[in-house]
Amino acid sequence: MTHEALAFCTELWNLGHELFKSSPETFPAHFVGGDAFNPEILAVAPPASMQTAGVPIPDLNDLTSLNSLHGHVSAIHATAFFHLFKEDQQLHMARAFAGLLSAEPGSVILGVHTGAREKGLVNQVFRNIEVNMFSHSPESWTDMWDGEVFEKGMVKVEAECREVMLEGVCRSSNVSTSLGGIATSLLNHSSIFTSSRYLLPQ
Ligand SMILES: C[S@@+](CC[C@H](N)C(=O)[O-])C[C@H]1O[C@@H](n2cnc3c(N)ncnc32)[C@H](O)[C@@H]1O
Repeated sequence: MTHEALAFCTELWNLGHELFKSSPETFPAHFVGGDAFNPEILAVAPPASMQTAGVPIPDLNDLTSLNSLHGHVSAIHATAFFHLFKEDQQLHMARAFAGLLSAEPGSVILGVHTGAREKGLVNQVFRNIEVNMFSHSPESWTDMWDGEVFEKGMVKVEAECREVMLEGVCRSSNVSTSLGGIATSLLNHSSIFTSSRYLLPQ
């Protein structure tokens, strides 16, 4: 991320405080700006084992990268995010998230993304711009987490696909389908994934 982009982010984060009438003191969230594909910001690491339990958590206020959080994060929310990327990039990002996730039971990754009944490219029109988005099906999403990202059987994944109404996304139709999932692992490594995605009717 450029210095200009970082300055822009800081300005937006300050506007957030203004909007919600908070301050860095009353809402001490710390933001890390950067490209999630930059390994200096977020490198792929193997999923945490219980050996990471008890390792001290770094001071969040000093973070300039997410890498020191490997194995420490109990909840990761990513919405309208995975569908921005191609299939191999989605796998990369899933692996990167898995490396961040704590091995503590109940740790969770959740979110909502565009999906499809059958995995593949979904053509959508956003503000007159046509895009082909790679969309997972519930089955391929489940297989990605349980078997590729995590060792098969280490996590339980639940995925659901349902239609939702969207406004202003596609001129030809505003009906879509969403998908969700939960994953829980064995061996004290428990994770929950929920994912919902949207699918425009073919
Ligand atoms: C469609 S927005 C969704 C934002 C939010 N999750 C929501 O539902 O409102 C996609 C977000 O992904 C972020 N994003 C896209 N590519 C990224 C990347 N390579 N690294 C970090 N963030 C990225 C964008 O900055 C944007 O905030």
